[in-house]
Parts: sequence; C-alpha cells; structure tokens
Amino acid sequence: MKVIFTCFVVFSSAFCLDGKIVFEKYCWGCHHQTSLAFGPSFEEIANHRTSGEIIAHINNPQESFRNLGYKRTVMPAFQLSSAEYEALSDYILSYKSIKKE
Ligand code: HEC
Repeated sequence: MKVIFTCFVVFSSAFCLDGKIVFEKYCWGCHHQTSLAFGPSFEEIANHRTSGEIIAHINNPQESFRNLGYKRTVMPAFQLSSAEYEALSDYILSYKSIKKE
C-alpha cells in the first residue's frame, strides 16, 4: 500500500511539468512559437486544432497527418508520458490568437 501511494504522488507531481521546457527539449529545432520554421508555428497550430488533434499528431504523425490535411509527414513520432503530451498541448494552445465566442 505504501509503495503504491508513493508512486501515485510521484506520478501526479509530473502533471506540473512546464510545457515550455518539454517543447524546448523535443520540438524547438522544427517548430517556433509564432513563426514558420520547418513545421508550422504553434500559433498556427493553436488556431486550428484541438488538444486531441495535437496530442494524436505528436504521438503518431503517420496515423494523423491525413486527418490534418497533409499529403505527407516528415515529423518524427514522440513516445512521451501523458503528462508531457498534456503539457505540450497546453503550451501550444496558449498561443491561440483567434478568440472563440
Ligand atoms: C524533424 C522536425 C520536427 C520535429 C522535431 C517536430 N515537428 Fe511537429 N511537425 C513538423 C512538420 C514538418 C510538420 C508538418 C506536418 C508533418 O510533417 O507531419 C509538423 C506538424 C506538427 C503538428 C500538426 C500541425 C497542424 O497542422 O496541426 C503538431 C501539433 C506538431 N507538429 C507538434 C510538434 C511537437 C509538440 C513537437 C515536439 C514534441 C514536434 N512537433 C516536433 C516537424 C517537426
């Protein structure tokens, strides 16, 4: 019991990850926050996608690129923890520049 409790505490603290740090670690080479790089800017992504679409593409671009309207994909798949996916998605969506009604 004690061990399970400890694991749970460690796991839930992972939800406090800073998306910017995760982004700089894995994505910075190809995506910039507000300007087009090799891949689209996070502002562009945030304006058009939901969190589910973003996470699906990070996890498995081979599966999702057609749904997003791409003819091919060159982005590598990232096997991250669910906390890291959430942190990245929140970070990307924080760049949304079109306000929803
Ligand atoms: C090797 C370069 C490269 C890396 C590294 C990379 N991307 Fe991409 N990404 C791309 C390219 C190019 C596209 C355009 C579509 C494609 O090729 O899949 C893309 C597309 C995307 C999309 C979908 C865009 C849309 O139209 O909605 C998301 C979301 C995304 N990337 C997030 C990330 C995140 C988060 C990371 C870091 C974990 C990352 N990418 C790392 C190159 C990259």
